[in-house]
Amino acid sequence: MYEIIKPFHSYLALALLVVLIISIMIVLMSKLSKKPFAASHLKIALIALISTHIQLLLGLVLYFISPLGFSNLSGAVMKDSFGRLQAVEHPITMIIAVVLITIGYSKAKKAFGTDKAYNAVLIYYSIGLILILSRLPWQVWMKG
Ligand code: HEM
Repeated sequence: MYEIIKPFHSYLALALLVVLIISIMIVLMSKLSKKPFAASHLKIALIALISTHIQLLLGLVLYFISPLGFSNLSGAVMKDSFGRLQAVEHPITMIIAVVLITIGYSKAKKAFGTDKAYNAVLIYYSIGLILILSRLPWQVWMKG
């Protein structure tokens, strides 16, 4: 199970970053060119939302089967920056990012058709993206 979920979590992370960046760029360009917020914008935001939710579920499972997750929690690990990143900072920050992206989507849906919908996606998705980028285990990602 660990051998399947770990690479899946790793590759979906890349896909998720691409989808998030593309959705923010498309929404930003449409807002700047003063196009009305349309169903296609909500659909792009939804694809990014679904990707983050799948990643959250995979991460939660991984947390309980990985040697670097829950089973690694200890006082000693809290003093080790990489151990702390994997067992505490990464999971907590990613959960906050997913919550923000979910709020952004729901606000955009409620404000559909207005400029507020653009702002909801731009603000919440961008903060979510920055949080994700800040707590990725860059030093081990893709190394296997
Ligand atoms: C939602 C956004 C998330 C992204 C973009 C993300 C991304 C990543 C990446 C790139 C890795 C490194 C994989 C590798 O070494 O090949 C990783 C590892 C890990 N992630 Fe996440 N993650 C997310 C959410 C979560 C959540 C919510 C949890 C737990 C509640 C979690 C738990 C873990 C654990 C335990 C590892 C270490 C796995 C191991 O090497 O054994 N992740 N994550």
